Amino acid sequence: MTLKNTIIISALAISISMFGQTKKQNMLYKNPNTPIEKRVNDLLKRMTLEEKAGQLNQLNAGTETGPLAAHDQKVPNIADIKAGKVGSYLNLEGVALTMKYQKVAYEESRLGIPLLFAKDVIHGYKTIFPIPLAEACSWDLKIIEQAARVAALEASASGLHWTFAPMCDISTDPRWGRVMEGAGEDPYLGGLIGAARVRGFQGNLVDGKHIMACVKHFAAYGAVEAGKEYAHVDVSRFALWNKYLPPYKAAIEAGAATIMNSFNVFEGVPATANIYLNHTVLKQKFKFKGFAISDWDTYTEMINHGYSADKKEALEKVLNGGGMMEMNSSLTINLLPQLVKEGKVPIKVVDDAVKRILYYKFKLGLFDNPYRYCDFEKEKKDVFNTQNREIARKAAASSMLLLKNEKELLPLKTKTKVAMIGYYAKSKEDMFDFWIAKGDYRQAVSMLEGLSTKFPNLSYSDGYLADASTTDSLIQAALEAAKNADVLLVNIGLSGKKAGEDRSLASIKIADGQQQLLKALRKTGKPIVALISSGRPQVLTQITDLTDAILQCWIPGTETGNAVADVLTGVFNPSAKTVMSFPYDEGQIPVYYNYFNTGRPTTPNGSGDWFSRYRDIPNAPLFPFGYGLSYTSFEYSNLKIDKSEFSISENVNVSVSVKNTGKYDGEEIVQLYIRDIAASYIRPVKELKAFEKIALKVGEEKLIKFTLSANDFSFYDMDGNTLLEPGNFEIYVGGNSVEVSKLNLKLLK
Ligand code: NOJ
Repeated sequence: MTLKNTIIISALAISISMFGQTKKQNMLYKNPNTPIEKRVNDLLKRMTLEEKAGQLNQLNAGTETGPLAAHDQKVPNIADIKAGKVGSYLNLEGVALTMKYQKVAYEESRLGIPLLFAKDVIHGYKTIFPIPLAEACSWDLKIIEQAARVAALEASASGLHWTFAPMCDISTDPRWGRVMEGAGEDPYLGGLIGAARVRGFQGNLVDGKHIMACVKHFAAYGAVEAGKEYAHVDVSRFALWNKYLPPYKAAIEAGAATIMNSFNVFEGVPATANIYLNHTVLKQKFKFKGFAISDWDTYTEMINHGYSADKKEALEKVLNGGGMMEMNSSLTINLLPQLVKEGKVPIKVVDDAVKRILYYKFKLGLFDNPYRYCDFEKEKKDVFNTQNREIARKAAASSMLLLKNEKELLPLKTKTKVAMIGYYAKSKEDMFDFWIAKGDYRQAVSMLEGLSTKFPNLSYSDGYLADASTTDSLIQAALEAAKNADVLLVNIGLSGKKAGEDRSLASIKIADGQQQLLKALRKTGKPIVALISSGRPQVLTQITDLTDAILQCWIPGTETGNAVADVLTGVFNPSAKTVMSFPYDEGQIPVYYNYFNTGRPTTPNGSGDWFSRYRDIPNAPLFPFGYGLSYTSFEYSNLKIDKSEFSISENVNVSVSVKNTGKYDGEEIVQLYIRDIAASYIRPVKELKAFEKIALKVGEEKLIKFTLSANDFSFYDMDGNTLLEPGNFEIYVGGNSVEVSKLNLKLLK
């Protein structure tokens, strides 16, 4: 070929490609000035069945967060992206990597549909916040929202568009490892917290600093039998509507873009393919407009459940049952076209799912600038900076629960001679749980580090081994460290590694080794502060008498040591209240405040025959829902209601005075519960309906007002219809679910 020919051919190629570009630009879906719905429809018309299947396909490409099959990809396959066979990746993050693969999708696939990058950003991305259960104990919706916003800021600066959070599963079983990820046992509080997290993650979703939230796990995953991970679930529609659904509903109403189907079954049908959950509840009742993602491999797990004979049948059932995007298992990409061609899955089902996903790709601005989450400067500036860490430190202190404080042992003066005892206080490897995204434990502040900074006279000893067992020599060394100390700070509980998915425990008592250690230290006669690290409420019954003070620290994240030090020294006066009852004994589980009375309720002092109770332990938990102490004390008085009868159209005003009667400024969470005395379906003995977190200076008194509307007295029937029935109610107000004062109220016909 002559030089002249070559030039002519290249010029031709350039003009053809330019023509191609212009043509692409002219396509309606490429035009940023066109409304999103029209762009989606235009794009959908241009897509082949295979490309549609591609949009429903999410693959893993990094850290495994579920079991990998031999054939699973570990790194993205460029040819698949070019062919439009992948719509999203999970566990692929960082500007460099996301940019690399986004470029292929946007610039080299036929229609240039960008990828969605997702990751479990559960309690922070690189700046690790306290675990969600702990954060929930702050009852501080502003802090909770802010924590999610920081997580979104860091994640979006690192190429991510989507987190698989918040987990809105109600659970009353602390044996279940995943209680750490939720907001505790109460449906009302769980809903407010879920919604706050959605607002924090998503913001307006269009500014490039927020990411899509995913309300999970839909539905009732927290009801796994005996707290055993991935176990069977059998809940009634009555329980579904009144106990499990409210938090998902509130989070969806807050605008969550996506939901995740749960691993479990509901009414004998896996949730991922459950028509009642995915069509009746989600689409019809909740009017959910976002899209659903399966949980890891739940499409193929239809076979293990015994709900499908093979992969093809599994996919058919899932798609017709409301499944949309598939996580990891690749059935869609391999089998969907065939199922549509055979008429087993209507194309409109596929189109509906694809449209929902494309909508969010447009909404995030990815078609107009696929690299807007890929900015190296932002990644450097917005991730793990001092400002984010300060917020995490405050969130951590706000989530720590003071469960006991005999003789006002705490707070401590910094000149106090303290001994810090406990292997976990030093071992950074044990500080974090599994859900820490890009968190690095080496960059976290251990308890030992944080406390050494505040208490210059501190001595340290391990006291027990990594597995929480102990030896005579470790105990001897601990006693030695305790010798010159005035106060002993003993860090016990569980390694962070024992919290989260696949971390169910049958025994949640304090380990024998740690109990032995406490017993030996008790003999010194020195005051003992137990600092408990754990991702769940443990059974603390055996150690309460061995300690003078107990601070439930949970898993506080990057700023652990600093936050614990802030609380112990009174820089931060604890104000958290537990959102999960602490069981007296494992045999009590599930134990929760909003139980039903039964036909044979227990007597007030729990004695007598023929009542619903245990013969060997009390019915009451060790620490009830809503319980938590402060360094100061509060007095409640003057509980009043503005009417004793009301009609549906009226509001009811309840007021109470709360006074700080102690020696420190502090915060109190004032809680209001109701009880419906008789209804067409039984109602719990107490239901949280309102609360307010207030700050009171020493000696200050405030009048707190709650306004209740008829809606607060309603509940659901089996089909999710709201029932509001006339009759008698009781109203309780107090600082926890047990220590309350009571009022009576009547709803008129
Ligand atoms: C399984 C978990 O159940 C889910 O919560 C998580 O988002 C996915 N794996 C992805 O990691």
